[in-house]
Amino acid sequence: MRDQLEGILRELYEVRDRIKNADELETFRVKFLGRKGILREFAQSFKDATEEEKRTIGNHFNKVKQEVEDTLADLTEKFKKRERVRFDFTYPGKTPLVGYRHLMSLELERVKDIFASLGFSSYGGYEIVTEYENFDSLNIPKNHPARDMWDTLWIDQKEKGEDQTETEKTKYLFRTHTSAYQVKLLKEQGVPLRAIIPGKVFRHEATDRTHDFEFHQIEGLVIDEGANIAELKYVLESFYRAYFGKDLKIRLRPGYFPFVEPGLEVDLGCIFCKGKGCLTCKKTGFIEVAGAGMVHPSVLQESGIDPDSHYGYAFGLGLGRAVMLKYGISDIRLLHSADFRFIEQFR
Ligand code: PHE
Repeated sequence: MRDQLEGILRELYEVRDRIKNADELETFRVKFLGRKGILREFAQSFKDATEEEKRTIGNHFNKVKQEVEDTLADLTEKFKKRERVRFDFTYPGKTPLVGYRHLMSLELERVKDIFASLGFSSYGGYEIVTEYENFDSLNIPKNHPARDMWDTLWIDQKEKGEDQTETEKTKYLFRTHTSAYQVKLLKEQGVPLRAIIPGKVFRHEATDRTHDFEFHQIEGLVIDEGANIAELKYVLESFYRAYFGKDLKIRLRPGYFPFVEPGLEVDLGCIFCKGKGCLTCKKTGFIEVAGAGMVHPSVLQESGIDPDSHYGYAFGLGLGRAVMLKYGISDIRLLHSADFRFIEQFR
Protein backbone atom coordinates (compact mmCIF):
# COMPACT_ATOMS: atom_id res chain seq x y z
CA MET A 1 0.00 0.00 0.00
CA ARG A 2 2.85 2.30 0.77
CA ASP A 3 4.18 1.67 -2.77
CA GLN A 4 0.80 2.53 -4.15
CA LEU A 5 0.92 5.92 -2.35
CA GLU A 6 4.43 6.55 -3.65
CA GLY A 7 3.07 5.84 -7.14
CA ILE A 8 0.29 8.39 -6.70
CA LEU A 9 2.79 11.00 -5.56
CA ARG A 10 5.05 10.30 -8.52
CA GLU A 11 2.14 10.63 -10.90
CA LEU A 12 1.17 13.90 -9.28
CA TYR A 13 4.62 15.39 -9.87
CA GLU A 14 4.63 14.19 -13.44
CA VAL A 15 1.22 15.56 -14.38
CA ARG A 16 1.58 18.77 -12.39
CA ASP A 17 4.14 20.42 -14.64
CA ARG A 18 2.24 19.63 -17.81
CA ILE A 19 -0.96 21.50 -16.91
CA LYS A 20 -1.28 24.54 -19.17
CA ASN A 21 -4.70 26.02 -18.52
CA ALA A 22 -7.82 25.98 -16.34
CA ASP A 23 -9.45 23.18 -18.40
CA GLU A 24 -6.51 20.84 -17.93
CA LEU A 25 -6.50 21.72 -14.26
CA GLU A 26 -10.11 20.62 -13.99
CA THR A 27 -9.25 17.27 -15.56
CA PHE A 28 -6.45 16.99 -13.03
CA ARG A 29 -8.85 17.73 -10.17
CA VAL A 30 -11.34 15.09 -11.30
CA LYS A 31 -8.59 12.56 -11.79
CA PHE A 32 -7.12 12.93 -8.32
CA LEU A 33 -9.89 14.30 -6.11
CA GLY A 34 -13.09 13.43 -7.99
CA ARG A 35 -15.76 11.01 -6.77
CA LYS A 36 -14.11 8.22 -8.68
CA GLY A 37 -10.64 9.72 -8.44
CA ILE A 38 -7.40 8.04 -7.51
CA LEU A 39 -7.46 9.13 -3.86
CA ARG A 40 -11.04 8.02 -3.30
CA GLU A 41 -10.30 4.65 -4.81
CA PHE A 42 -7.30 4.23 -2.59
CA ALA A 43 -9.29 5.21 0.52
CA GLN A 44 -11.94 2.66 -0.48
CA SER A 45 -9.46 -0.20 -0.57
CA PHE A 46 -7.95 1.11 2.61
CA LYS A 47 -11.14 0.21 4.49
CA ASP A 48 -10.17 -3.49 4.56
CA ALA A 49 -6.70 -2.86 6.03
CA THR A 50 -5.75 -3.97 9.55
CA GLU A 51 -5.68 -1.51 12.48
CA GLU A 52 -1.88 -1.47 12.39
CA GLU A 53 -1.81 -0.63 8.67
CA LYS A 54 -4.44 2.05 9.06
CA ARG A 55 -2.32 3.88 11.63
CA THR A 56 0.96 3.94 9.67
CA ILE A 57 -0.49 4.28 6.16
CA GLY A 58 -3.23 6.74 7.26
CA ASN A 59 -0.67 9.31 8.19
CA HIS A 60 1.12 8.90 4.89
CA PHE A 61 -2.14 9.05 2.96
CA ASN A 62 -3.07 12.35 4.58
CA LYS A 63 0.26 13.84 3.55
CA VAL A 64 -0.22 12.76 -0.08
CA LYS A 65 -3.79 14.11 -0.08
CA GLN A 66 -2.54 17.42 1.33
CA GLU A 67 0.11 17.60 -1.40
CA VAL A 68 -2.54 17.09 -4.08
CA GLU A 69 -4.79 19.73 -2.57
CA ASP A 70 -1.95 22.23 -2.26
CA THR A 71 -0.98 21.64 -5.87
CA LEU A 72 -4.57 22.24 -6.93
CA ALA A 73 -4.79 25.44 -4.88
CA ASP A 74 -1.48 26.77 -6.29
CA LEU A 75 -2.44 26.07 -9.88
CA THR A 76 -5.94 27.50 -9.45
CA GLU A 77 -4.37 30.71 -8.16
CA LYS A 78 -1.90 30.73 -11.07
CA PHE A 79 -4.55 30.43 -13.77
CA LYS A 80 -6.82 32.90 -12.03
CA LYS A 81 -4.04 35.48 -12.13
CA ARG A 82 -3.59 34.95 -15.86
CA GLU A 83 -7.31 35.50 -16.27
CA ARG A 84 -7.09 38.83 -14.44
CA VAL A 85 -4.48 40.44 -16.68
CA ARG A 86 -6.57 39.92 -19.76
CA PHE A 87 -7.46 43.34 -21.08
CA ASP A 88 -10.02 44.50 -23.59
CA PHE A 89 -8.34 47.27 -25.54
CA THR A 90 -11.52 48.11 -27.44
CA TYR A 91 -13.51 48.90 -24.27
CA PRO A 92 -14.48 52.59 -24.18
CA GLY A 93 -12.51 54.58 -21.58
CA LYS A 94 -13.83 56.73 -18.76
CA THR A 95 -13.70 60.49 -19.35
CA PRO A 96 -11.73 61.99 -16.47
CA LEU A 97 -13.58 64.66 -14.47
CA VAL A 98 -11.87 67.99 -14.99
CA GLY A 99 -12.76 70.97 -12.84
CA TYR A 100 -13.81 74.28 -14.31
CA ARG A 101 -14.81 77.68 -13.03
CA HIS A 102 -18.37 78.53 -12.11
CA LEU A 103 -20.39 80.90 -14.28
CA MET A 104 -20.42 83.56 -11.56
CA SER A 105 -16.64 83.44 -11.14
CA LEU A 106 -16.16 83.82 -14.89
CA GLU A 107 -18.61 86.71 -15.11
CA LEU A 108 -17.02 88.41 -12.13
CA GLU A 109 -13.67 88.22 -13.94
CA ARG A 110 -15.25 89.87 -17.00
CA VAL A 111 -16.80 92.59 -14.88
CA LYS A 112 -13.48 93.30 -13.16
CA ASP A 113 -11.75 93.51 -16.55
CA ILE A 114 -14.27 96.01 -17.86
CA PHE A 115 -13.97 98.19 -14.78
CA ALA A 116 -10.20 97.92 -14.92
CA SER A 117 -10.37 99.34 -18.45
CA LEU A 118 -12.32 102.26 -16.96
CA GLY A 119 -9.57 102.83 -14.40
CA PHE A 120 -11.08 101.02 -11.39
CA SER A 121 -9.10 98.86 -8.95
CA SER A 122 -10.86 95.97 -7.22
CA TYR A 123 -11.01 95.48 -3.42
CA GLY A 124 -12.46 92.56 -1.47
CA GLY A 125 -13.94 93.64 1.84
CA TYR A 126 -15.41 91.29 4.43
CA GLU A 127 -18.68 89.37 4.43
CA ILE A 128 -19.15 89.70 8.16
CA VAL A 129 -18.98 93.33 9.24
CA THR A 130 -19.84 95.49 12.23
CA GLU A 131 -23.10 97.32 12.70
CA TYR A 132 -21.10 100.55 12.38
CA GLU A 133 -19.67 99.58 8.96
CA ASN A 134 -22.96 98.44 7.50
CA PHE A 135 -25.15 101.21 8.94
CA ASP A 136 -23.84 103.98 11.23
CA SER A 137 -20.85 104.93 9.07
CA LEU A 138 -23.23 105.25 6.13
CA ASN A 139 -25.45 107.83 7.75
CA ILE A 140 -27.96 105.26 9.03
CA PRO A 141 -28.04 105.65 12.83
CA LYS A 142 -29.75 103.21 15.19
CA ASN A 143 -33.54 103.28 15.10
CA HIS A 144 -33.48 105.18 11.80
CA PRO A 145 -36.31 103.89 9.60
CA ALA A 146 -33.85 103.53 6.68
CA ARG A 147 -32.50 100.40 8.39
CA ASP A 148 -35.73 98.71 7.35
CA MET A 149 -34.59 98.97 3.72
CA TRP A 150 -32.35 95.98 4.39
CA ASP A 151 -33.49 92.71 5.98
CA THR A 152 -30.52 91.97 8.15
CA LEU A 153 -28.95 88.71 9.28
CA TRP A 154 -27.44 89.47 12.70
CA ILE A 155 -24.80 87.28 14.27
CA ASP A 156 -26.05 85.77 17.51
CA GLN A 157 -24.12 87.21 20.45
CA LYS A 158 -24.37 86.50 24.15
CA GLU A 159 -25.38 89.40 26.38
CA LYS A 160 -22.61 89.78 28.93
CA GLY A 161 -24.31 92.20 31.28
CA GLU A 162 -23.29 95.66 32.49
CA ASP A 163 -19.50 95.42 32.52
CA GLN A 164 -19.13 94.60 28.80
CA THR A 165 -16.21 96.31 27.07
CA GLU A 166 -16.84 98.44 23.98
CA THR A 167 -15.39 95.70 21.73
CA GLU A 168 -17.67 93.10 23.28
CA LYS A 169 -20.65 95.34 22.66
CA THR A 170 -19.87 95.46 18.93
CA LYS A 171 -22.66 93.83 16.98
CA TYR A 172 -21.80 91.80 13.91
CA LEU A 173 -23.90 90.95 10.88
CA PHE A 174 -23.69 89.53 7.38
CA ARG A 175 -23.22 92.65 5.25
CA THR A 176 -26.46 93.61 3.55
CA HIS A 177 -24.57 95.57 0.91
CA THR A 178 -21.03 96.07 -0.33
CA SER A 179 -21.37 99.74 0.71
CA ALA A 180 -20.35 98.47 4.16
CA TYR A 181 -16.74 98.71 2.99
CA GLN A 182 -16.91 102.32 1.77
CA VAL A 183 -15.66 104.16 4.84
CA LYS A 184 -13.10 101.55 5.83
CA LEU A 185 -11.69 101.46 2.29
CA LEU A 186 -11.46 105.24 2.14
CA LYS A 187 -9.63 105.29 5.46
CA GLU A 188 -7.25 102.60 4.21
CA GLN A 189 -6.60 103.94 0.72
CA GLY A 190 -7.16 107.70 1.01
CA VAL A 191 -8.07 109.93 -1.94
CA PRO A 192 -8.25 110.05 -4.90
CA LEU A 193 -9.93 106.66 -5.13
CA ARG A 194 -11.42 104.77 -8.04
CA ALA A 195 -12.56 101.40 -6.74
CA ILE A 196 -14.98 98.57 -7.18
CA ILE A 197 -15.89 96.26 -4.30
CA PRO A 198 -17.34 93.04 -5.69
CA GLY A 199 -18.69 90.45 -3.29
CA LYS A 200 -21.48 88.50 -1.73
CA VAL A 201 -24.15 90.22 0.32
CA PHE A 202 -26.89 88.71 2.48
CA ARG A 203 -30.50 89.49 3.27
CA HIS A 204 -32.89 87.87 5.70
CA GLU A 205 -35.72 87.31 3.28
CA ALA A 206 -37.83 84.70 1.56
CA THR A 207 -36.55 83.67 -1.84
CA ASP A 208 -38.34 83.65 -5.17
CA ARG A 209 -37.33 83.75 -8.81
CA THR A 210 -35.85 87.23 -8.54
CA HIS A 211 -34.81 87.38 -4.86
CA ASP A 212 -32.22 85.36 -3.01
CA PHE A 213 -30.93 85.57 0.55
CA GLU A 214 -27.38 85.62 -0.81
CA PHE A 215 -26.29 87.44 -3.96
CA HIS A 216 -23.43 89.32 -5.58
CA GLN A 217 -23.05 93.07 -5.70
CA ILE A 218 -20.50 95.28 -7.39
CA GLU A 219 -19.97 98.46 -5.45
CA GLY A 220 -18.39 101.37 -7.25
CA LEU A 221 -16.74 104.23 -5.34
CA VAL A 222 -14.99 107.22 -6.88
CA ILE A 223 -13.68 110.12 -4.81
CA ASP A 224 -11.95 112.93 -6.64
CA GLU A 225 -12.04 116.65 -6.98
CA GLY A 226 -13.99 116.53 -10.20
CA ALA A 227 -16.29 113.52 -9.67
CA ASN A 228 -19.82 114.23 -10.91
CA ILE A 229 -23.07 112.61 -12.03
CA ALA A 230 -22.28 112.95 -15.74
CA GLU A 231 -19.17 110.84 -15.20
CA LEU A 232 -21.16 108.33 -13.12
CA LYS A 233 -23.62 107.96 -15.98
CA TYR A 234 -20.81 107.57 -18.49
CA VAL A 235 -19.12 104.89 -16.38
CA LEU A 236 -22.30 102.85 -15.90
CA GLU A 237 -23.31 103.16 -19.54
CA SER A 238 -19.84 102.14 -20.69
CA PHE A 239 -19.86 99.19 -18.33
CA TYR A 240 -23.24 97.83 -19.46
CA ARG A 241 -22.42 98.37 -23.12
CA ALA A 242 -19.19 96.43 -22.76
CA TYR A 243 -20.79 93.73 -20.65
CA PHE A 244 -23.72 93.04 -22.98
CA GLY A 245 -21.84 93.94 -26.14
CA LYS A 246 -24.73 96.14 -27.22
CA ASP A 247 -25.43 99.80 -27.69
CA LEU A 248 -27.57 100.48 -24.61
CA LYS A 249 -29.03 103.46 -22.85
CA ILE A 250 -29.01 104.26 -19.14
CA ARG A 251 -31.75 106.19 -17.37
CA LEU A 252 -31.29 107.87 -13.99
CA ARG A 253 -34.24 108.48 -11.68
CA PRO A 254 -34.31 110.02 -8.23
CA GLY A 255 -34.02 107.37 -5.50
CA TYR A 256 -33.36 107.32 -1.78
CA PHE A 257 -30.29 105.92 -0.06
CA PRO A 258 -29.12 107.62 3.16
CA PHE A 259 -25.44 107.57 2.12
CA VAL A 260 -25.82 109.48 -1.15
CA GLU A 261 -27.17 112.91 -1.97
CA PRO A 262 -28.73 113.11 -4.47
CA GLY A 263 -29.66 109.43 -4.65
CA LEU A 264 -30.44 107.70 -7.92
CA GLU A 265 -32.04 104.56 -9.29
CA VAL A 266 -30.31 103.31 -12.41
CA ASP A 267 -32.40 101.80 -15.19
CA LEU A 268 -31.04 100.01 -18.22
CA GLY A 269 -32.78 100.25 -21.57
CA CYS A 270 -34.32 96.78 -22.02
CA ILE A 271 -31.82 94.57 -23.83
CA PHE A 272 -34.59 92.39 -25.26
CA CYS A 273 -37.08 94.81 -26.81
CA LYS A 274 -34.77 97.85 -27.14
CA GLY A 275 -37.24 100.01 -25.24
CA LYS A 276 -40.39 98.97 -27.09
CA GLY A 277 -41.80 97.12 -24.05
CA CYS A 278 -41.82 93.36 -23.38
CA LEU A 279 -42.45 90.85 -20.59
CA THR A 280 -38.99 91.17 -19.03
CA CYS A 281 -39.22 94.95 -18.67
CA LYS A 282 -42.92 94.77 -17.80
CA LYS A 283 -43.73 96.91 -20.85
CA THR A 284 -41.74 99.87 -19.50
CA GLY A 285 -38.76 99.58 -21.84
CA PHE A 286 -36.38 99.77 -18.85
CA ILE A 287 -34.99 97.37 -16.26
CA GLU A 288 -33.86 98.49 -12.80
CA VAL A 289 -30.24 97.45 -12.35
CA ALA A 290 -28.52 99.56 -9.69
CA GLY A 291 -28.66 102.17 -6.97
CA ALA A 292 -26.29 105.13 -7.13
CA GLY A 293 -25.67 108.74 -6.19
CA MET A 294 -23.20 111.35 -5.04
CA VAL A 295 -21.46 110.31 -1.82
CA HIS A 296 -23.10 112.05 1.15
CA PRO A 297 -20.93 114.70 2.86
CA SER A 298 -21.35 112.95 6.20
CA VAL A 299 -19.86 109.74 4.72
CA LEU A 300 -16.88 111.75 3.46
CA GLN A 301 -16.49 113.33 6.86
CA GLU A 302 -16.71 109.94 8.56
CA SER A 303 -13.84 108.81 6.29
CA GLY A 304 -11.73 111.82 7.26
CA ILE A 305 -12.16 113.59 3.91
CA ASP A 306 -13.02 117.26 3.55
CA PRO A 307 -16.45 117.44 1.84
CA ASP A 308 -15.72 120.97 0.67
CA SER A 309 -12.76 119.97 -1.48
CA HIS A 310 -13.76 116.46 -2.58
CA TYR A 311 -16.72 114.98 -4.36
CA GLY A 312 -17.53 111.39 -4.92
CA TYR A 313 -20.05 109.13 -6.53
CA ALA A 314 -21.02 105.58 -5.67
CA PHE A 315 -23.11 102.85 -7.20
CA GLY A 316 -24.18 99.34 -6.25
CA LEU A 317 -25.25 96.95 -8.98
CA GLY A 318 -26.46 93.38 -8.79
CA LEU A 319 -24.16 90.99 -10.66
CA GLY A 320 -26.76 88.20 -10.69
CA ARG A 321 -29.30 90.44 -12.36
CA ALA A 322 -26.85 91.27 -15.16
CA VAL A 323 -25.84 87.62 -15.63
CA MET A 324 -29.48 86.56 -15.79
CA LEU A 325 -30.24 89.13 -18.46
CA LYS A 326 -27.16 88.21 -20.47
CA TYR A 327 -27.89 84.46 -20.54
CA GLY A 328 -31.68 84.48 -20.27
CA ILE A 329 -31.71 82.75 -16.87
CA SER A 330 -35.13 82.87 -15.29
CA ASP A 331 -34.43 81.97 -11.65
CA ILE A 332 -31.75 83.75 -9.58
CA ARG A 333 -31.52 80.77 -7.18
CA LEU A 334 -29.97 78.66 -9.93
CA LEU A 335 -26.86 80.86 -9.70
CA HIS A 336 -25.79 79.33 -6.42
CA SER A 337 -27.44 75.95 -6.72
CA ALA A 338 -25.26 72.87 -7.10
CA ASP A 339 -27.36 71.61 -10.01
CA PHE A 340 -24.94 70.27 -12.62
CA ARG A 341 -27.58 70.35 -15.34
CA PHE A 342 -27.43 74.10 -14.95
CA ILE A 343 -23.74 74.63 -14.17
CA GLU A 344 -22.49 72.46 -17.03
CA GLN A 345 -24.11 74.67 -19.62
CA PHE A 346 -21.57 77.39 -18.90
CA ARG A 347 -18.21 75.66 -18.97
N1 PHE B 1 -26.04 99.71 -1.21
C1 PHE B 1 -27.26 99.97 -1.91
C2 PHE B 1 -28.15 98.72 -1.83
O1 PHE B 1 -27.66 97.65 -1.62
C3 PHE B 1 -26.99 100.32 -3.35
C4 PHE B 1 -26.24 101.62 -3.49
C5 PHE B 1 -24.86 101.63 -3.51
C6 PHE B 1 -26.91 102.82 -3.60
C7 PHE B 1 -24.17 102.84 -3.66
C8 PHE B 1 -26.26 104.00 -3.73
C9 PHE B 1 -24.89 104.00 -3.76
O2 PHE B 1 -29.35 98.80 -1.97
